[in-house]
This record gives sequence, C-alpha cells and structure tokens, in this order.
Amino acid sequence: MKISILIFLLFLAIQTVLSWKKEEFRNCNQTPFCKRARSRKPGSCNLIAQDVTISHGELTAKLLPKIPQGQDQDQAKPLILSISVYQNGIMRLKIDEDASPKKRFEVSDVIISEFESKKLWLQRVSDERSDGDADLSSVVFLSDGYEAVLRHDPFEVYVRGEQGNRRIVSLNSNGLFDFEQLRDKKEGEDWEESFRGHTDTRPYGPQSVSFDVSFYGSDFVYGIPEHATSFALKPTRGPGVEESEPYRLFNLDVFEYIHDSPFGLYGSIPFMVSHGKSGKSSGFFWLNAAEMQIDVLASGWDAEPQISMPTSQSRIDTFWMSEAGIVDVFFFVGPGPKDVIRQYTSVTGTPSMPQLFATAYHQCRWNYRDEEDVENVDLKFDENDIPYDVLWLDIEHTDGKRYFTWDKLLFPHPEEMQRKLAAKGRHMVTIVDPHIKRDESFSLHKEATQKGYYVKDASGKDFDGWCWPGSSSYPDMVNPEIRTWWGEKFFYENYVGSTPSLYIWNDMNEPSVFNGPEVTMPRDALHLGTVESRELHNAYGYYFHMATADGLVKREDGKDRPFVLSRAFFAGSQRYGAVWTGDNTADWDQLRVSVSMILTLGLTAVTFSGADVGGFFGNPEPELLVRWYQLGAYYPFFRAHAHQDTKRREPWLFGQRNMELIRDAIRGRYMWLPYFYTLFREANVSGVPVVRPLWMEFPTDEATFSNDEAFMVGNSLLVQGVYTERAKYASVYLPGKESWYDIRTGTAYEGGTTHKLEVSEDSIPAFQRAGTILPRKDRFRRSSTQMVHDPYTLVIALNSSQTAEGELYLDDGKSFDFKQGAYIQRHFVFSNGQLTSSNIVPTRGESSFSTDCIIERIILLGHLPGPKIALIEPGNQKAEIEMGPLRLGEHAGPAAVTIRKPGVRIADDWTIKIL
Ligand code: NOJ
Repeated sequence: MKISILIFLLFLAIQTVLSWKKEEFRNCNQTPFCKRARSRKPGSCNLIAQDVTISHGELTAKLLPKIPQGQDQDQAKPLILSISVYQNGIMRLKIDEDASPKKRFEVSDVIISEFESKKLWLQRVSDERSDGDADLSSVVFLSDGYEAVLRHDPFEVYVRGEQGNRRIVSLNSNGLFDFEQLRDKKEGEDWEESFRGHTDTRPYGPQSVSFDVSFYGSDFVYGIPEHATSFALKPTRGPGVEESEPYRLFNLDVFEYIHDSPFGLYGSIPFMVSHGKSGKSSGFFWLNAAEMQIDVLASGWDAEPQISMPTSQSRIDTFWMSEAGIVDVFFFVGPGPKDVIRQYTSVTGTPSMPQLFATAYHQCRWNYRDEEDVENVDLKFDENDIPYDVLWLDIEHTDGKRYFTWDKLLFPHPEEMQRKLAAKGRHMVTIVDPHIKRDESFSLHKEATQKGYYVKDASGKDFDGWCWPGSSSYPDMVNPEIRTWWGEKFFYENYVGSTPSLYIWNDMNEPSVFNGPEVTMPRDALHLGTVESRELHNAYGYYFHMATADGLVKREDGKDRPFVLSRAFFAGSQRYGAVWTGDNTADWDQLRVSVSMILTLGLTAVTFSGADVGGFFGNPEPELLVRWYQLGAYYPFFRAHAHQDTKRREPWLFGQRNMELIRDAIRGRYMWLPYFYTLFREANVSGVPVVRPLWMEFPTDEATFSNDEAFMVGNSLLVQGVYTERAKYASVYLPGKESWYDIRTGTAYEGGTTHKLEVSEDSIPAFQRAGTILPRKDRFRRSSTQMVHDPYTLVIALNSSQTAEGELYLDDGKSFDFKQGAYIQRHFVFSNGQLTSSNIVPTRGESSFSTDCIIERIILLGHLPGPKIALIEPGNQKAEIEMGPLRLGEHAGPAAVTIRKPGVRIADDWTIKIL
C-alpha cells in the first residue's frame, strides 16, 4: 500500500513539472502485435475462399490456407466469412474463427436495433471469371448499381459501383490479411508482455487481426479520431514519411498532449472516410474495441506490389491492426460525403438532440471553490451583461472525491445554489467519474463491492487502481445490469443535493488509472467475468457515458433530454451526449488543431464536441484567450475551462476592452442559437455534422480538401480562425461560384478564390454564403432559456440570381415530444422579390408545438436599396423597408436593406413581397 502511495505521489509530482512524456506510452515497436503486423510483406496472406454459398440471406464462405499439393488441408482451422448487405449501399463483412477455445469478443450495444431491419435478404450469388478460369469471384447485389464481390484466390473482398466499373473500397487487395487464431500454449512458450514495470499475463496468447483496406478514386482519407493532428490524415509509412508511427486508437489519459501526433488520445472511432477529385467519398468502419493501430500508406509504399492492381484509379491504401476481437467491418459506398455519414449513422445511430441550453455557452474551471464563488461568478456575468447558461463544478466540490456527494463546508446548500441559478434560466453540471473511492464508509463502494459490480484484476479480485480519490475501483459498465444500477444513482433520492437543473460530466473514463500501464487499466483485467480489458478497452468509457445518460433520462421518467459530457468515446457515443478534446494547452498551435479535431469528430458523427476555450493548461495571453472565444463561439460545444493551477480567467479579468471582445464573441453565439439548434436537428435526423469541412459542401473543389483552418457551420456559414499573434491579415479561401457576405459588414466577396483580408481584434472572419437564409435572435438576455420568446431576425444573403433559401427548426428545447411531431420546421424561400415561409414537417405527429414568436427584422444582403414597402400576405399588411444596421443597436455600423417589423409569426405560413 505504502509503495503504491509513493508511486502515486511521484506520478503527481512528475505530472506537474513535465510535459508530454512520449516514453510513458507504447509505440508500435513496443507493441508486439503491431510490430508483428507491420513486418508482414504484401501478398503474404495465403487464404483462399471456399464453399461459397448463400445461407440465411447472407453469403458465407470458409477461408483456408492454400496448401501445397500433397499436404493435408484437414490440419488447417478455417475462418468463417460472411457478407451481408443493407439498404442504401452498406456491406458488412464478418470473419471469425470456426471453433475457438474461447469466444472472441464482439462489441455489443453499438449497432442500433433499427439497422437489422434494413438488411437485404440475399437470394443468389453469381460467379464471375476473368483470366480464363483461374480468377473466380462471387458477386452479390448491394444496391442501385453497386455490388459486393468476394474474390476467391487470393481472397479479397470489395464493393464496386457504376455497372461494375468502379472499385470503391476493398479489403486484402495487398494480401496483408492475418488472423491469429486462439490456440494452446506450446511448451516453453512465454506469452507474458511487459512495459515499464507492468506485466501483462496474456493468458490467451496472440490473437491479433490485421488487414489492408484500399480506397479508390481517393486523394485523402480522414476520420479515426482521436488524434491531435491534421484533418486530412498524413501518410504514416512509405516514401517521404519520417516519423513512422501508425495512428493509434487506444483510449488514454494523455498528460499535455502535443498538437501534431498520431498517438492515441481519450477516444477511439475506427471509422475512416475517403474523398477524391471526382467529388466522391466512401467509408470503412471496423467495429472492434481492442487497441487498434492504423497506417495510412504513402503512394509507392510497396515498391513491388505482389498483386496486380488496377492502376487507372487514384487509390489510398491503409493498414489496420487490432490486438484482439474479430473482423466486423462495414463498407459504405457514398457516393457523396453526406451519404457516407448517413450510411455510418444508420449503423451506429445519429447524434442525440441536445437541450437548447446545452448548445449555449458553458462556464467551467477546476474549480469553483464554494457557493460564494459560484454566486459571485454568476453575478459578474450579469453585471457585465454576458450571457451564459451553465456553471460547472469539478472534482473539488465533492466530499473527498466521492462522487454523488458534496463537500459540506464548501457546498452546504447545493439545492439552493442550483435553484438560484435556475431562477435565471441557468443550469449546473457536476462531475461524476468512474473511479469509486475504496472507502468502507462510502455506501456506493460498499454496495458495489457486495454486489460484485467491480471490474476484476487478472487474479479475480476487485481491481484496485489509483485515481483522484486514491485507491479506487471501477464498476463494470459493460454489464447492462451494472449500467442500470449506475443510472439509478442519478435519481434525486439517491443523488442527494441534485435538482432537475443539474446535469453531468463524465471524466477519466478511458479509464484513467494513475498507477496502471500507460495510465490505464491493465489489459488482463476482467469484465463480465471472462472478457479481458484488452478486448474492449476502447468501449469502457462509451458504456459509462451510456449508463449515465440513460440514468438521467430515467430520472425524469423519460421526459427530459439528458446532458452528459464525456472525455472518452467510441463509435456510437453521439447517441449519449457531448465530448470534448480533453486537456489541451493555452497556445496558438492548440487553438489551430482544435479545428481539425472537431472536424474529425463531426465526420465520425460525434458532432456535439468542443475544445476547452482558453486551453486547459497554462495561462493564455489575453489576445489568445480572445481569439479562442471568437473561434470557440462556433464550436458545437462551447465551454471555457482551465486547470486548477492556472490563474483565474473569467471574461472580466483582462480589462474592459478584452471583456467587451469576449462578450461580443459569446453574444455572437447566442445570436446564432436558432441556426445552431436547427443544425443539431439536421444532425439528429441525418448524421450530417453541425460543423463540417468545406469539401462536404463543395465536394469537387480540390482547394478545400486539406483545408483545416476554416470550416462550415451548416451549409451557410464559413468561419476562418485566426491562429497567430498580432495577425494583421488572414488568407481566406471562399469556395464555389457564388459570393460570400462578411457577417459583420455585409461586404460581398467573390467565391472560388483566396482573399487576403485585413483582420482586427474585433472578430475572426466569418461569411454567409450567397443563396442562404439564416435565422437569428438579436436580443441579449442572461441565458438562452430567457430568449425563448424573443423575436427572430432573418438574414437573406442573395445569390447572383437574387434568390436564397433556408430553414428553421424549433421545439420546446427540452423534452422528447419532438419525437412525436411536436416541433416547427420552416422552409424560407426568397425569389422574384418575395419571401415565402412554408411548413416542412412531413406529417403532423401525435403532439404539436406552437409559439407566438414573431419576426422583427428581415435583412437583405445583396439587394439594391430603393424599395420602401413590403406587402405581407395573408392579411394585406404593409411593412416599411429602410437601410438598417446589420446588428441590433449598432446604428453607427454597416447598414443593409431591412424590412422593419414585419411582425409575422414564425409558426405561420406567409409571404412578404418587396414592392
Ligand atoms: C481531467 C479533465 O480532462 C479536466 O478537464 C478536469 O478538470 C480534471 N480531470 C479534474 O477533474
């Protein structure tokens, strides 16, 4: 015990003085399965597909090694392959052992139940031969001109489209497939592995799986978060690659991560998207939660290919390696980038719809000290007229890091504190981590121990690791019974001091174990009695997030949308809440990389994400802090947060001017809340992210493919960050043929070119795309909740044909009634000098939503001044047209043609004609 405490204290001491220590984490060479896999040569796979048949609506086959004549094939253990196909261009391929001594782990609760209903029941398979009779393939129909192909010898699987002419995604085209089947230990064989004094017993021996995947017609690949690196993934092997580390997917608590590295961070989503000049995208997802390493291979990585490949198409080869599990992979044919996301989210689910307050600004720090501190911070926001919606409490609010408790001296009246905030329409979030203090007097620990709910160590005892509370154990969240138990801890009667305006933050759920190998749980720890941590490590945090979110839903009888922020994540996390990019640092490079990280998360469906505004570690110079607020105001999840050793940095602590700039940035977010909320709904329906890469909107524009300094908010706003100190100019590439309007000045800029723009401290460049209509709310209140009844402003940005269109979604911002149709969705079209608002709710559901909100202003960008009157129908009403300010109250600023006080209800159908 004493030694562990010493190690722990030493760990903390090291943490406070040093930055990222590469050597604390394994690289590929120190990871035997990765090293083994990477040493394989192309073409070394000798498996051939046999006994191809259709059964239960799937194509099945056996994979057996090609045995030289005269040798006995019966010795070989086959692998079983199955191909199933689903609506809208999705193929699933599974490969597992036929009969293994221990069932290999398959990740549960990630694929949504609706997915199975989209399965297309295969009836027939056809044979295709090329090269005479030698090259036999089995072909099945996929959808709309797409086919799935299993080539027999050598075994290869791919999808193709356009009447068989175009390969899209393939597996094992480079012959790197390898599947280490479970087996008995040979005499004298040693399976143990160790790293920095930690021994992994590896009782089941080698069991890794690896294979190559090729994307055709592709110039770039993206995705596979979480890494702090460029958005377009740089090659990791082959000509021109210096640091030869694959992208690692292994959920880790990485202290002071650097801004350009393939090392794995807190979450893992093994989903990759490709994109190319033709404007087409495709995707590949491996449902596997063991450690994964992925190489992106530079062109020419294999100077002498063993297998002849079609060379007419540009292609990106990748190499996927996992320590355990099975092959359970999904091919998505696209063809558009949004189609790929739709396909992926039809497997793993679309992002949940957040409450309105959660899309507004969050104020956090480690820690707000006590109730008085909370009250003062809250007051100061009001005094300075800065809106905010949520105040957060970090670990110090608890009684000795026992979650679900309060420090009685510092927070003696938690309910009253929350009620005071709630009276202003504000909310509170408290932190609840998965490590439970091993303290006999802590009822949660006693109960978890008695019920046998903890993850076990390799010897079968409750796993005991070090985290914030000291000696801790971790509930086995993979077990649904334990998840239900955990969820109930959030009921008001169990979480004493919690109220309906309190929501939750799940941190350290990789899980972080200070004295564990690589700061996490040993791989031989046991879940569900028999499943090793190595098999599901990357999903632990996901199950924890799920249990918490489900608990919050049950807390209010299914009537209230949960809000849970999680640090660790896996494929499917989008269904449970928001994530953030963990412990970043207050420097300019980290500001820049936050955009790549958020774009990547969005592309893999985790759209509700953000980075700590200001940077977690260190003290940002005021200029950096201001720039961070200006950028962060466009993150889907907008929260300021800081380490406990940093100086206080609430917005008013940097002088009047900086306070005004920060306030302006935050108010900008509140102004666009109706648009953000509309985009969250779009994500909820289609998976398409709130914040997206430019190429998602301009898929054939090559100049956008590796741009990760600018991004789109929805299809209508383009935002360019400012990432350097004292910047005087910013280069902004504006795609497309139409113009873009600066959202502050209304100035139009030509599309399809890069503009060198002067920047001031006031704001970062942001533009509304010509041809779009955006909803805003321009009055500033204390919180989003208090803006609910406020009127709207519509901003119409006209294109070269003097037309534009846009949408607005709204509902009660809180409940699940929208699922029964209780929402309003308007479609606005401007053409021939007339604005029309119509309803696009397809059918009326069981319940409905209504509001008396009106439109108070309509701003027309790109319209010539002159008209004086607009006619409103129905009702034959008139509204005045004048030159008005772009922002309410800014009368000295730029002006635009404005329809004043049209007064039409947002919920109604109407037209407004400019006379
Ligand atoms: C680590 C988290 O990443 C950070 O945001 C938090 O403040 C600390 N844990 C303390 O809870």
